[in-house]
Amino acid sequence: MERVCEFLKKAGTYYLATAQGDQPRVRPFGTIHIFEGKLYIQTGRVKEVSRQIAANPKVELCAFLDGEWLRLCGTLVEDDRREARQSMLDAYPSLQKMYSADDGNTQVFYFTNATATFSSFSHEPEVVTF
Ligand SMILES: Cc1cc2nc3c(=O)[nH]c(=O)nc-3n(C[C@H](O)[C@H](O)[C@H](O)COP(=O)(O)O)c2cc1C
Repeated sequence: MERVCEFLKKAGTYYLATAQGDQPRVRPFGTIHIFEGKLYIQTGRVKEVSRQIAANPKVELCAFLDGEWLRLCGTLVEDDRREARQSMLDAYPSLQKMYSADDGNTQVFYFTNATATFSSFSHEPEVVTF
């Protein structure tokens, strides 16, 4: 999980796919954070992506860095504890211009049943589950 988090932090931007009915939706995301041994992302309740995760929490993301790409799929679980939201905001001070732990909008989710696959044209895929 640490390797996945480091990869995504270094990549800076990853692309998060959700499902809207039978229509895939994808957008750039950047937040990635380990809290209490789980891998978290952050969004806002007002966003379509939040509604899509509520309807179907199975997601996949992809990022590319230094000739290697990572695909991470799993099921997101919302952590509605204030300390989980605050931990994410502490890790991303820039988010604090738009979000606060008690604004009723900030949401954090952690991955369960996660499979991460590191691929490149020069090595066999390496799979990590957590
Ligand atoms: C580089 C980059 C990183 C982003 N990171 C996040 C993020 O971590 N969480 C988030 O909710 N939105 C993030 N956004 C904004 C979303 O991509 C944007 O709100 C998008 O429209 C959300 O998807 P939706 O329209 O399907 O709800 C980021 C945007 C960019 C350009």
